[in-house]
Amino acid sequence: MKIIRAKSAGFCFGVKRAVDTVYEQVEKEKEKQIYTYGPIIHNEEVVKDLEQHGVKVLREERELDALTDGLVIIRSHGVPKRICDKLDGKGIVYVDATCPFVKRIHKIVKEESEKGSHIIIIGNPEHPEVEGIRGWAANDATVIKTPEEAKEFSCEDVRKICIVAQTTFNYNKFKELVEIISEKGYYISVLNTICNATKERQTEAGEIAGAVDAMIVIGDKHSSNTQKLFEICRDACNNTYYIQTLGDLDTNQLRSVETVGITAGASTPNNIIEEVQNNVRINF
Ligand code: F3S
Repeated sequence: MKIIRAKSAGFCFGVKRAVDTVYEQVEKEKEKQIYTYGPIIHNEEVVKDLEQHGVKVLREERELDALTDGLVIIRSHGVPKRICDKLDGKGIVYVDATCPFVKRIHKIVKEESEKGSHIIIIGNPEHPEVEGIRGWAANDATVIKTPEEAKEFSCEDVRKICIVAQTTFNYNKFKELVEIISEKGYYISVLNTICNATKERQTEAGEIAGAVDAMIVIGDKHSSNTQKLFEICRDACNNTYYIQTLGDLDTNQLRSVETVGITAGASTPNNIIEEVQNNVRINF
């Protein structure tokens, strides 16, 4: 059997940086209780390993409110400005591991909204990254996810609109939504803030899926970028399987195939990808 593993499978730069930051702080700050604000990445295996290293996850803002000491690490998705202000106000030390590409969106949103632009974020309103981005706008921002929402959008007394995107949003959907909003006659500036890592991973995954008999997509079930990868691969290859770890792989599914493609979401650790790849190589 031939295996094609996507070069772009696994941790992206921002996720690797955030995870490394937590392990570095575990080593450095042995006396302090280390917290991450939300799970550091969407991957249960990594979060479990960090728990074994004593790292606790703050799952809600009120847990942060109750905190009196310790060290808080902000994950790659970033947080609303309010959270940074709160940590500063409480005098709690924090390490900001927000991905620099997300940080750049915070800066754009803050500056443009302060200049009077209305901010539109193209993305999923429930995703923590989008909640974070929204929280840097000086006035209330609009989040648009679907063509219907784009069609319905209207905003009175607005001189200028600034559109940004969730870093993991699908580029073609982003373009479609921007076109709908552009027809409304506002003065618009569009900043394509979709991360290249996502686009490259999606393009490569689609190409591989189109050339193999079966495709394996590895990632946590809560990871939105893995879900999108799965959709892209499934469109190109009917035999596409979404697994979290090797344990989810149904060995019968690969019995009669000659070529298998493997890709993985941005929050999938390398050891999980290798385990799957080695197992497929040995057993089929
Ligand atoms: Fe950053 Fe792009 Fe990853 S925005 S967290 S490098 S997907």
